Amino acid sequence: MKAAVFREVNVPMEVEEVEISKPGPREVLIRTAAAGVCHSDLHFFNGTYPGAAPMVLGHESAGVVEQVGSDVHYVQPGDHVITCLSVFCGHCEYCLTGRLSLCQEPETRRGRDQAPRLSHGDAPMGQFADLGSFAEMMLVHEHAVAKIRDDMPLDRAALIGCGVTTGVGAVIHTAGVEPGSTVAVIGCGGVGLSCINGAAIAGAGRVIAVDMVASKLDLARKFGATDVVDASEGDPVGQVKQLTGGGVHYSFEAIGLKVTAEQAFQMLRNGGTATVIGMIPPGHMVSLHGPEFLFEKKIQGSMMGSNRFRVDMPRFVELYMQDKLHLDDLVSSHIKLGDVNDALKQLETGEIARNVILFD
Ligand SMILES: NC(=O)c1ccc[n+]([C@@H]2O[C@H](COP(=O)([O-])OP(=O)(O)OC[C@H]3O[C@@H](n4cnc5c(N)ncnc54)[C@H](O)[C@@H]3O)[C@@H](O)[C@H]2O)c1
Ligand SMILES: [Zn+2]
Ligand SMILES: [Zn+2]
Repeated sequence: MKAAVFREVNVPMEVEEVEISKPGPREVLIRTAAAGVCHSDLHFFNGTYPGAAPMVLGHESAGVVEQVGSDVHYVQPGDHVITCLSVFCGHCEYCLTGRLSLCQEPETRRGRDQAPRLSHGDAPMGQFADLGSFAEMMLVHEHAVAKIRDDMPLDRAALIGCGVTTGVGAVIHTAGVEPGSTVAVIGCGGVGLSCINGAAIAGAGRVIAVDMVASKLDLARKFGATDVVDASEGDPVGQVKQLTGGGVHYSFEAIGLKVTAEQAFQMLRNGGTATVIGMIPPGHMVSLHGPEFLFEKKIQGSMMGSNRFRVDMPRFVELYMQDKLHLDDLVSSHIKLGDVNDALKQLETGEIARNVILFD
């Protein structure tokens, strides 16, 4: 099968022929239909986060089950699925206490003594996030897929695989936004726009979108932003405080920068909660003004929207079908696998929401 292979930091990926193994007892082979290009792929491609090459990047995808292992009962060939990097074991403390997105058990991967899922000649090849979606086929653990209805368009479904689950989930699961509360979202990419959409679904009274690209702020209104703040025109903290008479109940950082994580905390009203979704680079420290804690302000992280994705993803599909989740507006363009390098480059400008790779 063909896959875009990451071999070296910042060196354009070539589409190569890669061998893919047969499903083990609990594995599922998927024919990839569509894959979104998320900023997390860029973090590994440009070396902001370390990743072992060679590897197939991509982790936001949907497809059709081709073949299943002997112990798989959840799906069968022909089923439509969305993948999720929150592969869960089902029996560790995190899984048993409902925090599946924190599960790190290695048993859902193949061991070193087993043949690799992907290879090139004699050399094993990694799968980013145990998925590797920039490829015509994916071989994954059965706990990496959610089954969805057949009439859901797979290019839209792919976006639920990461950005939507992360953004909406951060709002409804990690933060637990209540109806009528005020929300600010810093960064209006695929994740931030999904946060805004999630806040609207949760019934937030005021949803303030913050970005530095004017077209993104226009787009944010379509997702439910009631107010917008252009951060290129000065400090967004003061503007958000002014709009809300002192600060928001909930803020979300959806970029991955120290400065915007600090802004998220600074724009809280007393008792408010800041949720950092963006991947801040290793080694970067976030500074907070100590006395603010006296006013019960909180800051927390969010991993993949604290999802329970086999429950969440089919629900998100229903919300799309009911026109409540605006996935159509999230697709900036459909591209081919060979265009993936350009799509990664475009993420650096902040101009696009999501590029989605379509496979033949
Ligand atoms: N926590 C998780 O589980 C998780 C999951 C998925 C993605 N992420 C991370 O979330 C972040 C966002 O991902 P994405 O794909 O939406 O990214 P993106 O590149 O599509 O969007 C980023 C947006 O931020 C805006 N921006 C950049 N600098 C800004 C600034 N200083 N002030 C205001 N706006 C600014 C850009 O214009 C752009 O609209 C990334 O760091 C990604 O790695 C985390
Ligand atoms: Zn992602
Ligand atoms: Zn577990």
